[in-house]
Amino acid sequence: MPLSDRYLPTAAVGAADIAASALLARREVKGRQTAERIAAASLESLLKAIDANDSDTGAHVRRVATYALILADAAGLDEREQRSVERVALFHDIGKIHEALFDIIHDHSKLSPAERKAIATHPQRGADVLSPLCGFYPDLPDGVLSHHERWDGHGYPRRLRGRRIPLSARVVAIVDTFDAVTHSRRYRDGQPVDRARDVILEGRGTQFDPELVDLFVFPPIFARIVAAVRDVTRWITPIETRRTGQDEESVPDISFRWRPGRSGSRGRPASDHARQTER
Ligand SMILES: [Fe+2]
Repeated sequence: MPLSDRYLPTAAVGAADIAASALLARREVKGRQTAERIAAASLESLLKAIDANDSDTGAHVRRVATYALILADAAGLDEREQRSVERVALFHDIGKIHEALFDIIHDHSKLSPAERKAIATHPQRGADVLSPLCGFYPDLPDGVLSHHERWDGHGYPRRLRGRRIPLSARVVAIVDTFDAVTHSRRYRDGQPVDRARDVILEGRGTQFDPELVDLFVFPPIFARIVAAVRDVTRWITPIETRRTGQDEESVPDISFRWRPGRSGSRGRPASDHARQTER
Protein backbone atom coordinates (compact mmCIF):
# COMPACT_ATOMS: atom_id res chain seq x y z
CA MET A 1 0.00 0.00 0.00
CA PRO A 2 1.40 3.44 -0.87
CA LEU A 3 2.51 5.48 2.17
CA SER A 4 -0.15 8.18 1.64
CA ASP A 5 -2.92 5.56 1.78
CA ARG A 6 -2.06 4.60 5.37
CA TYR A 7 -4.05 7.53 6.67
CA LEU A 8 -7.14 6.97 4.53
CA PRO A 9 -10.26 5.52 6.15
CA THR A 10 -10.69 1.77 5.47
CA ALA A 11 -13.71 2.28 3.18
CA ALA A 12 -11.79 4.76 1.06
CA VAL A 13 -8.84 2.37 0.76
CA GLY A 14 -11.22 -0.41 -0.33
CA ALA A 15 -12.72 1.83 -3.00
CA ALA A 16 -9.24 2.81 -4.19
CA ASP A 17 -8.24 -0.85 -4.48
CA ILE A 18 -11.36 -1.63 -6.49
CA ALA A 19 -10.72 1.31 -8.82
CA ALA A 20 -7.08 0.27 -9.26
CA SER A 21 -8.10 -3.31 -10.03
CA ALA A 22 -10.67 -2.12 -12.56
CA LEU A 23 -8.04 0.06 -14.21
CA LEU A 24 -5.61 -2.84 -14.41
CA ALA A 25 -8.31 -5.12 -15.86
CA ARG A 26 -9.18 -2.50 -18.47
CA ARG A 27 -5.52 -2.11 -19.41
CA GLU A 28 -5.14 -5.86 -19.68
CA VAL A 29 -8.18 -6.17 -21.97
CA LYS A 30 -6.95 -3.29 -24.09
CA GLY A 31 -3.48 -4.78 -24.33
CA ARG A 32 -4.91 -8.13 -25.38
CA GLN A 33 -7.17 -6.51 -27.95
CA THR A 34 -4.24 -4.57 -29.38
CA ALA A 35 -2.18 -7.74 -29.63
CA GLU A 36 -5.06 -9.56 -31.33
CA ARG A 37 -5.44 -6.70 -33.77
CA ILE A 38 -1.76 -6.85 -34.65
CA ALA A 39 -1.94 -10.62 -35.13
CA ALA A 40 -4.97 -10.28 -37.42
CA ALA A 41 -3.22 -7.54 -39.40
CA SER A 42 -0.20 -9.83 -39.73
CA LEU A 43 -2.40 -12.50 -41.30
CA GLU A 44 -3.87 -9.95 -43.66
CA SER A 45 -0.38 -8.84 -44.67
CA LEU A 46 0.67 -12.43 -45.22
CA LEU A 47 -2.31 -12.97 -47.48
CA LYS A 48 -1.41 -9.87 -49.46
CA ALA A 49 2.14 -11.23 -49.74
CA ILE A 50 0.69 -14.40 -51.27
CA ASP A 51 -1.35 -12.27 -53.71
CA ALA A 52 1.70 -10.21 -54.60
CA ASN A 53 3.82 -13.28 -55.21
CA ASP A 54 1.26 -15.42 -57.00
CA SER A 55 -2.27 -14.16 -57.56
CA ASP A 56 -3.40 -17.63 -58.70
CA THR A 57 -2.48 -19.07 -55.32
CA GLY A 58 -4.16 -16.10 -53.60
CA ALA A 59 -7.40 -16.81 -55.46
CA HIS A 60 -7.10 -20.57 -54.87
CA VAL A 61 -6.74 -20.25 -51.11
CA ARG A 62 -9.76 -17.96 -50.90
CA ARG A 63 -11.91 -20.46 -52.79
CA VAL A 64 -10.61 -23.25 -50.57
CA ALA A 65 -11.40 -21.19 -47.46
CA THR A 66 -14.92 -20.56 -48.72
CA TYR A 67 -15.61 -24.27 -49.26
CA ALA A 68 -13.82 -25.20 -46.02
CA LEU A 69 -16.12 -22.96 -44.01
CA ILE A 70 -19.18 -24.61 -45.52
CA LEU A 71 -17.87 -28.07 -44.64
CA ALA A 72 -16.77 -26.96 -41.18
CA ASP A 73 -20.21 -25.52 -40.52
CA ALA A 74 -21.85 -28.72 -41.77
CA ALA A 75 -19.62 -30.72 -39.43
CA GLY A 76 -21.03 -28.74 -36.50
CA LEU A 77 -17.74 -27.10 -35.57
CA ASP A 78 -18.08 -24.21 -33.18
CA GLU A 79 -17.06 -20.67 -34.03
CA ARG A 80 -13.53 -21.03 -32.66
CA GLU A 81 -12.95 -24.26 -34.60
CA GLN A 82 -14.35 -22.74 -37.78
CA ARG A 83 -11.96 -19.81 -37.49
CA SER A 84 -9.10 -22.28 -37.10
CA VAL A 85 -10.19 -24.17 -40.24
CA GLU A 86 -10.53 -20.89 -42.11
CA ARG A 87 -6.96 -19.84 -41.26
CA VAL A 88 -5.49 -23.20 -42.24
CA ALA A 89 -7.41 -23.02 -45.53
CA LEU A 90 -6.17 -19.51 -46.26
CA PHE A 91 -2.54 -20.30 -45.52
CA HIS A 92 -2.25 -23.96 -46.45
CA ASP A 93 -0.14 -23.18 -49.52
CA ILE A 94 1.91 -20.29 -48.17
CA GLY A 95 4.97 -22.54 -48.37
CA LYS A 96 4.65 -22.46 -52.15
CA ILE A 97 5.73 -18.83 -52.31
CA HIS A 98 9.17 -19.85 -51.08
CA GLU A 99 11.88 -18.76 -53.49
CA ALA A 100 13.16 -22.33 -53.78
CA LEU A 101 9.84 -23.44 -55.34
CA PHE A 102 8.98 -20.39 -57.42
CA ASP A 103 10.44 -21.55 -60.74
CA ILE A 104 9.02 -25.06 -60.37
CA ILE A 105 5.52 -23.83 -59.58
CA HIS A 106 5.49 -21.34 -62.43
CA ASP A 107 6.86 -23.78 -64.98
CA HIS A 108 3.86 -25.61 -66.35
CA SER A 109 5.72 -28.42 -68.03
CA LYS A 110 5.57 -31.90 -66.52
CA LEU A 111 7.27 -32.14 -63.15
CA SER A 112 10.38 -34.25 -62.77
CA PRO A 113 10.67 -36.53 -59.71
CA ALA A 114 13.14 -34.09 -58.15
CA GLU A 115 10.72 -31.20 -58.70
CA ARG A 116 7.87 -33.22 -57.18
CA LYS A 117 10.05 -33.86 -54.16
CA ALA A 118 10.83 -30.16 -53.87
CA ILE A 119 7.14 -29.20 -54.01
CA ALA A 120 6.39 -31.72 -51.30
CA THR A 121 8.40 -29.51 -48.95
CA HIS A 122 5.78 -26.74 -49.10
CA PRO A 123 3.78 -27.87 -46.02
CA GLN A 124 6.92 -27.71 -43.87
CA ARG A 125 8.01 -24.43 -45.42
CA GLY A 126 4.55 -23.01 -44.74
CA ALA A 127 4.55 -24.18 -41.13
CA ASP A 128 7.96 -22.56 -40.67
CA VAL A 129 6.71 -19.24 -42.03
CA LEU A 130 3.70 -19.31 -39.69
CA SER A 131 5.44 -20.59 -36.57
CA PRO A 132 6.04 -17.11 -35.05
CA LEU A 133 2.25 -16.68 -34.92
CA CYS A 134 1.62 -19.86 -32.94
CA GLY A 135 1.24 -17.86 -29.72
CA PHE A 136 -1.94 -16.43 -31.22
CA TYR A 137 -2.96 -19.28 -33.49
CA PRO A 138 -1.59 -22.48 -31.94
CA ASP A 139 -3.32 -24.75 -34.47
CA LEU A 140 -2.20 -22.91 -37.57
CA PRO A 141 1.34 -24.21 -38.26
CA ASP A 142 0.33 -27.80 -37.49
CA GLY A 143 -2.78 -27.60 -39.67
CA VAL A 144 -0.76 -26.23 -42.57
CA LEU A 145 1.95 -28.83 -42.05
CA SER A 146 -0.67 -31.59 -42.25
CA HIS A 147 -2.80 -30.67 -45.24
CA HIS A 148 -1.22 -33.32 -47.50
CA GLU A 149 -1.52 -36.12 -44.97
CA ARG A 150 -3.86 -38.95 -45.96
CA TRP A 151 -6.43 -40.76 -43.86
CA ASP A 152 -4.68 -44.10 -44.62
CA GLY A 153 -1.30 -42.83 -43.42
CA HIS A 154 0.32 -42.61 -46.86
CA GLY A 155 0.46 -38.85 -47.03
CA TYR A 156 3.28 -36.47 -46.19
CA PRO A 157 5.32 -35.13 -44.48
CA ARG A 158 4.70 -37.16 -41.28
CA ARG A 159 2.54 -39.99 -42.59
CA LEU A 160 -0.08 -39.28 -39.95
CA ARG A 161 -3.11 -41.55 -40.01
CA GLY A 162 -6.82 -41.02 -39.34
CA ARG A 163 -7.75 -38.72 -36.51
CA ARG A 164 -4.11 -38.02 -35.73
CA ILE A 165 -4.35 -35.62 -38.66
CA PRO A 166 -5.63 -32.26 -37.38
CA LEU A 167 -9.30 -31.77 -38.22
CA SER A 168 -8.60 -28.50 -40.03
CA ALA A 169 -6.17 -30.31 -42.34
CA ARG A 170 -8.71 -33.09 -43.02
CA VAL A 171 -11.29 -30.50 -44.04
CA VAL A 172 -8.83 -28.61 -46.22
CA ALA A 173 -7.61 -31.80 -47.93
CA ILE A 174 -11.12 -32.43 -49.29
CA VAL A 175 -11.95 -28.93 -50.43
CA ASP A 176 -8.44 -28.38 -51.82
CA THR A 177 -8.97 -31.38 -54.08
CA PHE A 178 -12.44 -30.14 -55.01
CA ASP A 179 -10.96 -26.83 -56.15
CA ALA A 180 -8.06 -28.48 -57.95
CA VAL A 181 -10.53 -30.51 -60.05
CA THR A 182 -13.13 -27.83 -60.72
CA HIS A 183 -11.01 -24.76 -61.33
CA SER A 184 -9.38 -24.06 -64.67
CA ARG A 185 -5.62 -23.82 -64.72
CA ARG A 186 -3.47 -22.34 -67.42
CA TYR A 187 -2.72 -25.83 -68.69
CA ARG A 188 -6.13 -27.50 -68.33
CA ASP A 189 -9.81 -26.71 -68.07
CA GLY A 190 -11.76 -27.18 -64.88
CA GLN A 191 -14.02 -30.22 -64.72
CA PRO A 192 -17.68 -30.36 -63.67
CA VAL A 193 -18.54 -30.38 -59.97
CA ASP A 194 -19.99 -33.88 -60.28
CA ARG A 195 -16.63 -35.15 -61.51
CA ALA A 196 -14.96 -33.50 -58.48
CA ARG A 197 -17.51 -35.17 -56.20
CA ASP A 198 -16.62 -38.55 -57.73
CA VAL A 199 -12.91 -37.92 -57.19
CA ILE A 200 -13.55 -37.15 -53.54
CA LEU A 201 -15.76 -40.21 -53.14
CA GLU A 202 -12.99 -42.34 -54.66
CA GLY A 203 -10.68 -41.10 -51.89
CA ARG A 204 -13.18 -41.84 -49.10
CA GLY A 205 -11.39 -43.70 -46.31
CA THR A 206 -8.08 -43.75 -48.17
CA GLN A 207 -7.11 -40.18 -48.90
CA PHE A 208 -9.90 -38.47 -46.99
CA ASP A 209 -11.74 -38.67 -43.67
CA PRO A 210 -14.79 -40.82 -44.57
CA GLU A 211 -17.18 -38.96 -42.28
CA LEU A 212 -16.20 -35.61 -43.74
CA VAL A 213 -16.59 -37.02 -47.25
CA ASP A 214 -20.10 -38.23 -46.38
CA LEU A 215 -20.94 -34.74 -45.22
CA PHE A 216 -19.38 -33.13 -48.26
CA VAL A 217 -21.43 -35.19 -50.71
CA PHE A 218 -24.64 -34.98 -48.66
CA PRO A 219 -26.97 -33.30 -51.19
CA PRO A 220 -27.93 -30.19 -49.17
CA ILE A 221 -24.29 -29.58 -48.25
CA PHE A 222 -23.02 -30.27 -51.74
CA ALA A 223 -25.63 -27.86 -53.07
CA ARG A 224 -24.15 -25.15 -50.83
CA ILE A 225 -20.68 -25.91 -52.19
CA VAL A 226 -21.94 -25.74 -55.78
CA ALA A 227 -23.64 -22.41 -55.06
CA ALA A 228 -20.37 -21.13 -53.61
CA VAL A 229 -18.52 -22.15 -56.78
CA ARG A 230 -20.82 -19.83 -58.73
CA ASP A 231 -20.36 -17.13 -56.10
CA VAL A 232 -16.56 -17.13 -56.10
CA THR A 233 -16.41 -16.68 -59.86
CA ARG A 234 -17.99 -13.25 -59.35
CA TRP A 235 -15.24 -12.06 -57.02
CA ILE A 236 -12.98 -9.28 -58.15
CA THR A 237 -9.69 -8.09 -56.73
CA PRO A 238 -8.27 -6.40 -54.76
CA ILE A 239 -9.17 -7.00 -51.14
CA GLU A 240 -11.04 -4.15 -49.53
CA THR A 241 -8.80 -1.61 -47.88
CA ARG A 242 -8.52 -1.95 -44.12
CA ARG A 243 -10.60 0.70 -42.42
CA THR A 244 -9.02 3.01 -39.88
CA GLY A 245 -11.88 4.43 -37.89
CA GLN A 246 -12.15 6.98 -35.13
CA ASP A 247 -14.04 4.34 -33.21
CA GLU A 248 -10.85 2.29 -33.00
CA GLU A 249 -10.61 2.89 -29.27
CA SER A 250 -14.03 1.53 -28.45
CA VAL A 251 -14.36 -1.13 -31.15
CA PRO A 252 -11.08 -2.94 -31.70
CA ASP A 253 -10.71 -4.23 -35.22
CA ILE A 254 -9.63 -7.80 -34.59
CA SER A 255 -10.92 -9.08 -37.91
CA PHE A 256 -8.98 -9.67 -41.03
CA ARG A 257 -10.39 -9.46 -44.49
CA TRP A 258 -9.72 -11.98 -47.15
CA ARG A 259 -12.57 -11.92 -49.63
CA PRO A 260 -12.23 -9.48 -52.47
CA GLY A 261 -15.26 -7.33 -53.25
CA ARG A 262 -17.96 -8.56 -55.54
CA SER A 263 -18.62 -7.10 -58.95
CA GLY A 264 -20.82 -4.04 -58.74
CA SER A 265 -20.40 -3.61 -55.01
CA ARG A 266 -17.45 -1.22 -55.05
CA GLY A 267 -17.70 1.76 -52.78
CA ARG A 268 -19.86 0.05 -50.18
CA PRO A 269 -18.42 -0.36 -46.70
CA ALA A 270 -16.24 -3.43 -46.37
CA SER A 271 -18.53 -4.83 -43.68
CA ASP A 272 -21.40 -4.98 -46.19
CA HIS A 273 -19.87 -7.52 -48.47
CA ALA A 274 -16.40 -8.61 -47.43
CA ARG A 275 -16.62 -11.66 -45.22
CA GLN A 276 -14.64 -10.94 -42.12
CA THR A 277 -13.11 -13.14 -39.55
CA GLU A 278 -14.52 -12.06 -36.23
CA ARG A 279 -13.02 -13.73 -33.24
FE1 LIG B 1 -0.71 -27.91 -50.76
